[in-house]
Amino acid sequence: MSRLEGKSALITGSARGIGKAFAARFAEEGARVAIADINLAGAEAAASEIGPNAYAVQLDVTDQSSIDAAISAVEQKTGGLDILVNNAALFDLAPIVEITRDSYQRLFDINVSGTLFMMQAAAKSMIRRGQGGKIINMASQAGRRGEALVGIYCATKAAVISLTQSAGLNLIEHGINVNAIAPGVVDGEHWDHVDSMFAKYEGLQPGEKKAAVGAAVPFGRMGTAEDLTGMAVFLASKDADYIVSQTYNVDGGNWMS
Ligand SMILES: NC(=O)c1ccc[n+]([C@@H]2O[C@H](COP(=O)([O-])OP(=O)(O)OC[C@H]3O[C@@H](n4cnc5c(N)ncnc54)[C@H](O)[C@@H]3O)[C@@H](O)[C@H]2O)c1
Repeated sequence: MSRLEGKSALITGSARGIGKAFAARFAEEGARVAIADINLAGAEAAASEIGPNAYAVQLDVTDQSSIDAAISAVEQKTGGLDILVNNAALFDLAPIVEITRDSYQRLFDINVSGTLFMMQAAAKSMIRRGQGGKIINMASQAGRRGEALVGIYCATKAAVISLTQSAGLNLIEHGINVNAIAPGVVDGEHWDHVDSMFAKYEGLQPGEKKAAVGAAVPFGRMGTAEDLTGMAVFLASKDADYIVSQTYNVDGGNWMS
């Protein structure tokens, strides 16, 4: 349990859900982890739950000054950044004829611009230090295909897969590996919200959509955040040094590519 010993990591959106599970596992593996979230109180609570290897940082991935301040805070606290996980994201759902410009803008600001400009700031920091690094972007099975009610979110996650490819090719000359994880359906507060939105558009009872998507997974159930942590540790570790620009499905068999 020391595959990330001495490493400094920043995980965006890690006050809860998948990011929090990654932070807990990275800390167990010996990394010092910045729980960087727009919800500072949530980040502080997560950090104190995880223990001394974790600390909270205020971060809004849509705000360049907040991005720069978060990277500086990590540099000051740990001497430099080794691992970035771009995990913060927003979901929305609507038929094409009901999509609003506000929803489009918010999702692209957080999921796409947030990922790009966090990668940029982290890469600048890693290049200055000259020790390479690892960047992991959270994509989704939604980025592999369209979904009737999920147009904007699917498009943002397809953009994350594409940015991962370009950034990986561009940054590997600095020893920075950029790769992504594409989860399927992962149970948690996020999916409770998704379930309620589907219920509205598909006339379902609360919990029905979750039960249906879980039953449709070849593995036989929805994923848990912990199901994803092994891939995240692997991509953050030295074992992934020769892996560039890839997106890995960790989804119980939902998608093959
Ligand atoms: N849960 C799933 O089924 C699933 C499936 C595929 C992909 N994913 C992806 O995995 C990642 C994590 O998903 P989750 O289910 O844990 O999400 P979540 O909604 O539970 O957590 C998202 C976190 O991001 C934070 N956040 C929101 N806006 C922010 C901003 N502007 N700046 C900084 N932080 C911000 C929130 O406060 C929250 O803590 C996301 O990228 C998501 O798209 C999730």
